[in-house]
Amino acid sequence: MGELARIGVAIDEELLKRFDELNGRRGYTNRSEAFRDLIRDALIQEAVAGDSEVVGTLTLVYDHHVRMLQERLTEMQHEHHEEIISTLHVHLDHHHCLEVLVLRGKSGAVQGIADRLVATKGVQHGRLTLTAAGKGAGF
Ligand code: NI
Repeated sequence: MGELARIGVAIDEELLKRFDELNGRRGYTNRSEAFRDLIRDALIQEAVAGDSEVVGTLTLVYDHHVRMLQERLTEMQHEHHEEIISTLHVHLDHHHCLEVLVLRGKSGAVQGIADRLVATKGVQHGRLTLTAAGKGAGF
């Protein structure tokens, strides 16, 4: 991290009040840190767009009793073994499984794999979280 710079920001009072309330709910004790996190997140979102190298986690919840679902998901994961670098499986209850996949690769490829897995019939919920790999995250 470099030297700290101080900036002044003109902002609508109502908007600032809502921002402070949100920060309170999120556990920020300091408005500056919340503001810095927003900037970092915007930079990460830009860094993970397009053809950049990303890492991400995909969370899936599904009912393993759905016919052939487990086989289809495993087949797809083997097709993309170069991008899917780790998986975690939790048997949530009698029916439901939770899987967390760690993916690494080009942004478009990683998003495409995640979309296909989430769209598979029987997957009840899925969410991909991307972050920038390596040096891109160093701000
Ligand atoms: Ni399971």
